[in-house]
Amino acid sequence: MADFKLPADSRFNEVPGRRHPAPAGAQRVKGFRIYRFDPDGTDKPRVDRYDVDLDRCGPMVLDALLKIKNEVDPTLTFRRSCREGICGSCAMNIDGVNTLACTKAIDEVKGDVRIFPLPHLPVVKDLVPDLTNFYAQYAAVKPWLQTRTPPPPDRERLQSKEDQEKVDRPSACILCACCSTSCPSYWWNSERYLGPAAILAAYRWIVDSRDEATGERLDALDDPFRLYRCHTIMNCTEACPKDLNPAKAIAEVKKLLVERQH
Ligand code: SF4
Ligand code: SF4
Ligand code: FES
Repeated sequence: MADFKLPADSRFNEVPGRRHPAPAGAQRVKGFRIYRFDPDGTDKPRVDRYDVDLDRCGPMVLDALLKIKNEVDPTLTFRRSCREGICGSCAMNIDGVNTLACTKAIDEVKGDVRIFPLPHLPVVKDLVPDLTNFYAQYAAVKPWLQTRTPPPPDRERLQSKEDQEKVDRPSACILCACCSTSCPSYWWNSERYLGPAAILAAYRWIVDSRDEATGERLDALDDPFRLYRCHTIMNCTEACPKDLNPAKAIAEVKKLLVERQH
């Protein structure tokens, strides 16, 4: 089992958390143990417990977080937007697994629901990690169409159904960072290893029949750290809440690099 850890300065260390009991009369109570930390404050990180009345709460972990924030503790901080698995902003570590709070059903978790920010990233506050480096790595792979030739004068650059299918799945990445933050190689080398999300984004453009910068894209990845820190541990693919396969994309990029030497 992978050991998901927070950075040293944001780890909680036996500091007793606060307890927020369920309202009197609640029949179906579930405990939520939630990581709390404000790096700008003086308190050490802690884990607070909130008892939620499931008869007055929606079915997903995000529903419980919103209920806690709206009705119990407005200081609890987390990101969310679409609440249907599309924006990627509610990614967090729930019950030991990186996933989306809005698509994770509360009743899938036995016992208390333990919620932590995505591991091995600096914490901005509570469940909000600092994704600055993650987004910079995404930008570094130039995730847009690059062409040299002029477009056809009378229509868009078209591609066949078969060629579209090659980019269809990788294009479904929502940049939630669940994969990269579950990858041990990324934990230890996140400054130099691009990580599965950024490499999947690079792969999406490498296999796009309309793109004309394939050689440059492969050149940019052909590096012992940027690409080859992947040791095929597969945590990334297991973690992806959109059922994508970044580990396979990484393997395909490595294969393309070998093939072009021959
Ligand atoms: S397959 Fe590669 S990118 Fe995915 S978790 Fe393993 S080392 Fe990380
Ligand atoms: S590949 Fe999956 S886990 Fe990784 S960022 Fe994209 S959607 Fe999230
Ligand atoms: S709120 Fe958008 S993916 Fe969860």
